[in-house]
Amino acid sequence: MLSKVITISQQKGGTGKTTLAIHLAMGFIKYHNLKVAVVDTDPQGSLGQWFMIRSEKKISNHNLSFKTASLWGAQYESKTLKKDHDIVIIDTPPKIESDARPSIEASDLVLIPMTPSHVDFWATEAIIDIAKKANKKIMIQINRANQRSKQIIKTNDYIKSLNVPSVNIIIGNRQIYASSMGEGKTAIEKQRKGSAVDEIKKLSEQILLELNQ
Ligand SMILES: Nc1ncnc2c1ncn2[C@@H]1O[C@H](COP(=O)(O)OP(=O)(O)O)[C@@H](O)[C@H]1O
Ligand SMILES: [Mg+2]
Repeated sequence: MLSKVITISQQKGGTGKTTLAIHLAMGFIKYHNLKVAVVDTDPQGSLGQWFMIRSEKKISNHNLSFKTASLWGAQYESKTLKKDHDIVIIDTPPKIESDARPSIEASDLVLIPMTPSHVDFWATEAIIDIAKKANKKIMIQINRANQRSKQIIKTNDYIKSLNVPSVNIIIGNRQIYASSMGEGKTAIEKQRKGSAVDEIKKLSEQILLELNQ
């Protein structure tokens, strides 16, 4: 067992935490044959809803486990889950600055999705601060990007100024990410090839490399 914990964290809602959590989970399973647990700590429970649709539709959950926990409970839950899973992914709610610590302390890597808008910038720094203090690996992931937008350059400059590693795969703003989730699936189960498949495959590879360092 690899037994690594990834916490996906970002103060701002709607940056793609949950989307990334499930796509990464399915990417690890599909392309790396790993056993993955996802822990939903968001009382809104959109990850849980996804899992429920999936289970009702009898879509294969081979190598995938799902749990819910409070932000505090995630620490205990992930400790238990990592005994028999290669990767545990903790999905977190927004606005958690004061409560973020336990889920970050439980992790080996903190993955921070941000969209290329100035609004996300400020929201990123509080989490980075906590993760740095806890001595955790950090990676920033640009999500929902319009590849041709000038905002990408600004976002990259901003990330550089933070002095934190970023994933070099930019996730595009693609309908398939949203529509697949509504069906209890992921883009990589809906499509066999294409940009989303390439993105998730490369993302999963890069995260694994980082975890193994
Ligand atoms: N790369 C993407 N392309 C298109 N839509 C996306 C992408 N990432 C997220 N979304 C959509 O944006 C919304 C917010 O994403 P979500 O993962 O729920 O964010 P969070 O968990 O951070 O609040 C959802 O409707 C989701 O389907
Ligand atoms: Mg969410």
